Amino acid sequence: MKLNIALLAGDGIGPEVIDQAVKVCDAIASKYDHEITWKPALTGAAAIDAVGEPYPDETHEICASSDAVLFGAIGHPRFDNDPTAKVRPEQGLLKMRQKLGLFANVRPTFTFPSLIDKSPLKRDRIEGTDLIILRELTGGIYFGERGRKDDNHTAFDTMTYQRFEIERLARKGFEMAMKRSKKLCCVDKANVLESSRLWRETVQAMEKDFPEVTVSYEFVDATAMRLIQWPKGYDVIITANLFGDILTDEASVISGSMGLMPSSSVGSKVSLYEPIHGSYPQAAGKDIANPLATVLSAAMLFEDLALTKEAEEIRRVVNKSLAEGIVTEDLAEGGTSYKTSEVGDWLAKNI
Ligand code: IPM
Ligand code: MG
Repeated sequence: MKLNIALLAGDGIGPEVIDQAVKVCDAIASKYDHEITWKPALTGAAAIDAVGEPYPDETHEICASSDAVLFGAIGHPRFDNDPTAKVRPEQGLLKMRQKLGLFANVRPTFTFPSLIDKSPLKRDRIEGTDLIILRELTGGIYFGERGRKDDNHTAFDTMTYQRFEIERLARKGFEMAMKRSKKLCCVDKANVLESSRLWRETVQAMEKDFPEVTVSYEFVDATAMRLIQWPKGYDVIITANLFGDILTDEASVISGSMGLMPSSSVGSKVSLYEPIHGSYPQAAGKDIANPLATVLSAAMLFEDLALTKEAEEIRRVVNKSLAEGIVTEDLAEGGTSYKTSEVGDWLAKNI
């Protein structure tokens, strides 16, 4: 297969982890006879520095005309500590999600047999966890009206949802549940928020179209507790943008490290694949960041293109590296650790 993949390394450790994913994809391409053309493009602080804008039109053109987008991370401390900054790297991420129509963010949570004891949670609670948080990604409080008033003494952000936005996300959730254990949980805050009541009403009305799926409804505060208390109680969770942002960071604790969790963002056109971790600026340029979340995001990319053998091969080699201790320092627990680039080389060599 011929593949054009837009490559958005971004900021911080983005370029380093992306390099490893490229090595792995290239190894897969040569083993399975594919031809990947990488199309590098600027985003985030790197793009602000180069052209004054975190998601330039040129980058959008490249993404929109590719078969998929592989993305590293966005964000720079220079902007975090400056609340007055007019342009922020994260705006690029939001603009990209919106312009590419990436309304559903798929964030799986699973455990790795060799890492169960790395999680701060007890083995019997987490072993065998296999859930997906499907986060709405182009609406809600991230995109609602926001601003200042009262002479700058009041600030507001608005959580707005339209029925069609909830429906298209929920449909994906139902479809996913149908392919898995047929359990769907809608997470909201319907005891307080009107937008959440619209979520509940909309999802309830869709239940009749998917009679085999058992749907439950939970308030997000309760889910925050149950998710780490008994993660095996969940299969597919659908939720709003902000709730999903928070719950997916929480869920990463189950797997033992944020550095392991991949994601895909899908919509009507091209899909995007990225690790759920951020740009981890403290580690930038040190060749110490864990590349596995990005490598596993590449596995999701192949999976979505129906290249299942390729995806499985990546997962196999990642599990092998973990089992053999070819890991970056975050997983080494003071033992032998490998550089980001060494892990990438090892993975590519073992494909
Ligand atoms: C994520 C990140 C982003 C988000 C930030 C960097 C804007 O936390 O992808 O989860 O909040 O969506
Ligand atoms: Mg987040």
